[in-house]
Formats: sequence, structure tokens, C-alpha cells
Amino acid sequence: MFFLPQNLDDYIVAHSEDEPQILKDLTRETHQKVLQAIMLSGAYQGRVLSMISHLKSPMRVLELGTFTGYSALCIAEGMPSDSELITVDVNEELEDIAGRYFTCFRESVNKNITFTQKIGPALDIISELEGKFDLVFIDADKPNYVNYFHAIMEKVNPGALIISDNVLWHGKVVENLNPKDSSTPILLEFNRILKEDPRLQTVLFSVRDGLTLSRVL
Ligand SMILES: C[S@@+](CC[C@H](N)C(=O)[O-])C[C@H]1O[C@@H](n2cnc3c(N)ncnc32)[C@H](O)[C@@H]1O
Repeated sequence: MFFLPQNLDDYIVAHSEDEPQILKDLTRETHQKVLQAIMLSGAYQGRVLSMISHLKSPMRVLELGTFTGYSALCIAEGMPSDSELITVDVNEELEDIAGRYFTCFRESVNKNITFTQKIGPALDIISELEGKFDLVFIDADKPNYVNYFHAIMEKVNPGALIISDNVLWHGKVVENLNPKDSSTPILLEFNRILKEDPRLQTVLFSVRDGLTLSRVL
């Protein structure tokens, strides 16, 4: 988590569901083998994602920004049998770690979930996807967030949830803009669009670096 004092963060984590062992193992391996392990959703946000997914029970999920698969596994916890999770990442070097943990997860739960990893720029891949989704998690490159929003709105069912990560961008959304920062202006526009779009009900939660939950009406 980012914004609260450490002792409050610790208290919140201590009074939330424990992180499953498979996610502890994935976190350890990510720190050992991958640069920028800070990109992992982490234990507390992971429990929030799992809770949202359990409440929704989505049959089809799209995740933009797989990294090593942490958030995908949290969302998979709440998916029913015979559901499908498509994750997208531009970095093919991460495919092996995520794939191993997806297999391990499938073997440890008594339900059939199809995991499909797509490698490439998310905007290109979204345009190729067929069918509609019940839950979309946006967690790839920030300069494309507005583009991702417009692209996925064509691919969501009524009642779908769109979860967007890092929408507070380390607090930069309320600071003076740095002219060299290309992400913050896009996040400001993204947050405004989600709030104003009449097709959505949106609440921005102060979970970690800001997590917005939007429900498609
Ligand atoms: C913050 S990480 C995702 C973290 C992951 N969702 C989790 O919680 O464990 C962002 C990921 O987006 C990927 N990414 C960056 N630009 C992308 C693009 N244009 N298309 C697809 N993936 C991209 C990066 O390779 C990185 O793995």
C-alpha cells in the first residue's frame, strides 16, 4: 500500500484474509528473477481483487498487463468452473513464470478455468478478441489507459466490471504537472472519463496506488 502510515497498513493487512501460499511463492520467485517486482499487485490489493471477483463470479475475464500472473491468479480465485481468463502482456519473457503458476493453480483447485496468455501490445490484441467480457482489469502501460478504455467498452457485457489500477499514480494526479511526465495527464483524463461516462457507475477506491471500480450499466 502507498498512502497510509505503515502501522495502519500493517493493521489493515493483518485484519484481511491471508495471502494464499501460491501467491507467496510467486512473489518470492518474481523478486528473485524479475526486475521491477514492485509491479506486483501485492498481498492486500490481491485480496481486494479476489473479493471483487468472488462477488461477480465472472465467466470471461480480460487482464491487460499480466506481469508474472499475480493479479490474474487473484481474479481466478473467484471465477467459476468452465470460465476463461485471457491475460495480455507485451513482454514474452514473463510468459513462462506466469504459465507455470497458472498450471499450478489449475491443479490445486477443483474447477476448470482456461488461462490464455496473449503476447503483444494490448491495443492490437484487444482489437482481435472475439466475444464479450464480464470483468476487465486494466494494469498495463499508463499512457494507453484512455485508449484501453475506449477499446474495451466495445467488448463488455452489461453489468461487467472494469477495474483500473494505479489511478492515483503515486499521488501525482493532485500535484503540479511535470512537463516530461506523459502518464499523469492521461490518468487525469482517464479518471475524468470514467467519472463522467453515463454508461458507467464508478467509484475510485484508495486501495494501494488507487483502484477504480466501474460497473457497466
Ligand atoms: C504493473 S505490471 C502488471 C502487474 C500485474 N497485473 C500484477 O498485478 O501482478 C504492467 C505490465 O504491463 C505490461 N505492458 C506494458 N506495456 C504494455 C503494452 N503496450 N501492452 C501489453 N502489456 C504491456 C508490462 O510488460 C508489465 O508486465
